[in-house]
Amino acid sequence: MASYNIFLLPGDGIGPEVTAEVEKVAKIVSDAGLAKFEFEKGLVGGSAYDAHGLAISEADMARAQAADAVLLAAVGGPKWANVPYEVRPEAGLLRLRKDLGLFANLRPAICYPALADASSLKRDIVEGLDIMIVRELTGGVYFGEPKEITNLPNGQKRAVDTQVYETYEIERIAAVAFELARKRNNKVTSSEKHNVMKSGVLWKEVVTDLHKKSYADVKLEHMLADALGMQLVRWPKQFDVIVTDNLFGDMLSDVASMLTGSLGMLPSASLGEADANGKRKAMYEPVHGSAPDIAGKGIANPIAMIGSFGMALRYSFGLIEAADLIEKAISDVLAAGLRTADIKGEAASSISTSAMGDAIANALKKAI
Ligand code: IPM
Ligand code: MG
Repeated sequence: MASYNIFLLPGDGIGPEVTAEVEKVAKIVSDAGLAKFEFEKGLVGGSAYDAHGLAISEADMARAQAADAVLLAAVGGPKWANVPYEVRPEAGLLRLRKDLGLFANLRPAICYPALADASSLKRDIVEGLDIMIVRELTGGVYFGEPKEITNLPNGQKRAVDTQVYETYEIERIAAVAFELARKRNNKVTSSEKHNVMKSGVLWKEVVTDLHKKSYADVKLEHMLADALGMQLVRWPKQFDVIVTDNLFGDMLSDVASMLTGSLGMLPSASLGEADANGKRKAMYEPVHGSAPDIAGKGIANPIAMIGSFGMALRYSFGLIEAADLIEKAISDVLAAGLRTADIKGEAASSISTSAMGDAIANALKKAI
């Protein structure tokens, strides 16, 4: 039986609570004899800062580099609002993405039929929604230099962030989007702001060229990022795969998450370049944050975190059937009416984080 080393980074806030539920689901997969998982735990974000004054230690970075996959829950919280900028909780997450070269962030937004009423949009607009946002994750304004605040002679200050993309960065993320589209509904919508940004002009040009050269069988459309935000809430089912830069992808994926009923539903995969053996560095994380307001109460929704583990099985370990079964277990539990507080909607009551994890693990156990 194959054995995989998963580096767990529970992080802050609700992170440790939702991470505990993944271990239950992983146990079902290994009890079924499909694979063995070795979990090692580390610290990232505020919890790492409290322990050693850094957003992530060098030792934990080395463990992340060595692991078959990293599973990270969430970082940040008001407790660390005033720590130095370089060691703020988010710096740990950004360093992991950058140092592991995880340029491709896959954020699927699926609206389970049972949850269509939990969305703030009308049922017919979101029911059956299945889109994939492919966000560039190691470039753009998140990492561009200069990035600074300087003092001006007149006593004012000046802040600069730099939006920068090179051809290869756009090409490789577009290729990921086209490849995914071929296995889905064969359509890619590429999004930027070429009407105001030079990086948008290049983005559009490179995506168009790559399409012509290697992916002419895939339907390609271009949409300005503001218009895409509007279309996402007007008629999201027009999309299949959306490919966009780091900042627009951050925004648009939060918008897309609410189409699915709750931010607590969205998993994500961040993948690096394939090596000679076809193996990619990878980190899996829910799109939601650390939700400090509900941390420690045992009411957080563990579905995005469990879904992220499912994505690890799919994209890192080739356990496609098990990944499908995890998605089905989630869908079955929702169809049976079980809800955490965030997706309660009209339901009479809601269940705890751990009860939701148990329910999904049990549903999986029956199916596997
Ligand atoms: C996300 C988050 C992060 C981001 C934050 C926590 C730095 O919002 O993963 O979408 O902006 O990328
Ligand atoms: Mg975000």
